[in-house]
Amino acid sequence: MSVAEPCDTASDSITIRRPDDWHLHLRDGAILKAVLPYTAAQFARAVIMPNLAPPVTTAAAAAAYRDRILAARPPGSDFQPLMTCYLTDATAADDIEKGRAEGIWIAAKLYPAGATTNAHHGVTDIAGLAPVLERMEKIGMPLLVHGEATDPAVDVFDRESVFLERSLLPLLARHPGLKVVVEHITTAEAADLVRAHAPRVAATITPHHLMINRTALFQGGLRPHLYCLPVAKRERHRLALRKAATSGDGCFFIGTDSAPHVRGAKESACGCAGVFVGATALQSYAQVFDEEGALDRFEAFASLNGARFYGLPPNGGTVVLERRAGKPGAAVAIGDEEVVIFRGDETLPWSIGGGRS
Ligand code: NCD
Ligand code: ZN
Repeated sequence: MSVAEPCDTASDSITIRRPDDWHLHLRDGAILKAVLPYTAAQFARAVIMPNLAPPVTTAAAAAAYRDRILAARPPGSDFQPLMTCYLTDATAADDIEKGRAEGIWIAAKLYPAGATTNAHHGVTDIAGLAPVLERMEKIGMPLLVHGEATDPAVDVFDRESVFLERSLLPLLARHPGLKVVVEHITTAEAADLVRAHAPRVAATITPHHLMINRTALFQGGLRPHLYCLPVAKRERHRLALRKAATSGDGCFFIGTDSAPHVRGAKESACGCAGVFVGATALQSYAQVFDEEGALDRFEAFASLNGARFYGLPPNGGTVVLERRAGKPGAAVAIGDEEVVIFRGDETLPWSIGGGRS
């Protein structure tokens, strides 16, 4: 049931409570300044990923990063960054609890060492993290998981499902009260696992994993701007993700995984993983919900489920999405570099309209 105004699904617009992005990379410096206005125009709050170089492993570093984000907001913006702690083999349970008690971070992020961009300081021994996870369980602090196996012998398209079997299921069994978000799920198996363990387990789903499958990565040639981790999977998985996202189930919510890299770092002999979707996220999600005949469930996915999982109130104010063709623009300039926008050079059928705050 909607707690905002009822939305008229037959009409050409939908009004929802202001949504949140529960998984976002903002980077720092010039990139932060360039990309933050896009997210701030779409979302009231976002969970900020800590994989800077060096990573955000201390409460002091997280507080300083939060201040840089707040300072980079466009004039008049009330966007709120929700900070996270990057877990390493050396993380201490007391430091986690202290940073949470001081209101500096709301969750901790588990990157298996080497799994993705700036994950080389991540955790090599998940079982060794038990004291930290026990403490998080005790204080009700969510663990956010990048769910990919790092064993180089595992096929890249199997890394998520292998991680679920080898690492996540044992972790959930060891910590039966721990709240866990499986971030940016890409497989039917992940959606099933999350449903089976809800409500203490939840998942974020990106716009791009709802829109592209692995074939799109090679459509007419190599498409580096569609490459991210976990990599897009087969069509049957994309369809399963669309079903999960549009189901209205409380365990699925927005996490854009917007992850800007400059064009040169993407169009390279060894291109970086990450899709910049911050400028076109809501338009893309709305299109998916429309195509699935589920606009009446969009508000739950966008604005209610995540807040409920994190124990936060839903946002005040509304945003309007309109069935109106729009061209977002191909790229964001950053000095003499640029970041390519996911679907930015396309004509999108949904646009963001006015809203009230
Ligand atoms: C992210 C990044 O670039 O920071 N890249 C990505 O492909 N999603 C890291 C991550 O979330 O895996
Ligand atoms: Zn991410």
